Amino acid sequence: MRFMTPQPAVAPEIIGFYTDEFDEADRLTSSADGQLEMVRTQELLRRHLPPAPASILDVGGGPGTHARWLAADGYAVHLVDPVPRHVEAAQQVGCTAEIGDARRLDVPERTYDVVLLLGPLYHLLDQTDRILALDEARRVLKPGGLIAAAAISRYASLFEHTATTWLDRERVHDAVTDILATGRHDPGRKGFTAAYFHTAEGLADELARAGFATPSVYGIEGPTWSLLKATEQHTGGRMADSAMFRAALAAARMAEAYPDLLAASSHMLAVANA
Ligand SMILES: C[S@@+](CC[C@H](N)C(=O)[O-])C[C@H]1O[C@@H](n2cnc3c(N)ncnc32)[C@H](O)[C@@H]1O
Repeated sequence: MRFMTPQPAVAPEIIGFYTDEFDEADRLTSSADGQLEMVRTQELLRRHLPPAPASILDVGGGPGTHARWLAADGYAVHLVDPVPRHVEAAQQVGCTAEIGDARRLDVPERTYDVVLLLGPLYHLLDQTDRILALDEARRVLKPGGLIAAAAISRYASLFEHTATTWLDRERVHDAVTDILATGRHDPGRKGFTAAYFHTAEGLADELARAGFATPSVYGIEGPTWSLLKATEQHTGGRMADSAMFRAALAAARMAEAYPDLLAASSHMLAVANA
């Protein structure tokens, strides 16, 4: 039997953000850097996943953006997310889905071949909560099972708001300054929820603390995503399938061998076995 200390509920501002303010369903299709995140997440996951059919728990899976193609690839996917709008959408994409919190999964131990945490780690401001989520992932994984956990880079907002040119707005400038110094974004500052922005070392360290030995950390979009974003923003052009998109994708692949370049990616993906 597990004795769990009660966890605070998922912050209402996070539920409200994804319910009323932001449509997560088109985040990875509506912009070039989103499409780059999608292509790279797919290729990195496909490189590490066990062959289908295998069982995948997609924690913080949103409206099922990844669950959809994983189910089409032949995996049995169950998705957990705290936002009812996301769970309802995910139930239409070929997986099962329920409301839940990464810090307390309603799942028996040693159940899944794979656990995805592509979102919860950056929505949990306190390290204690992030480690709880990682501990839960390890608990529900079969021995030797795979965890893939995404984080937003500490430096992503610096690059993002150079591309948007919003660094000259005082509120954005101050929020980015604080993120660089502390990794924390408190709600209501620059158009996002409470969020934690990891360094690559910090992400690997948190996995190791939760018992995942020697995680590998990848830059998802690679070091030139913000050039792509800036080009799209300031030319108004559609960058998908452009020469610029293909160059940024090639750069992300070439950069994998050079860990110093992790700092310039927007998101990072840590993978490890239980
Ligand atoms: C940016 S979305 C990512 C969705 C999807 N995994 C993807 O990679 O496209 C972040 C997701 O994390 C979810 N989330 C936030 N806090 C969470 C928590 N404590 N437990 C589980 N999921 C959480 C949000 O509801 C949201 O769906």
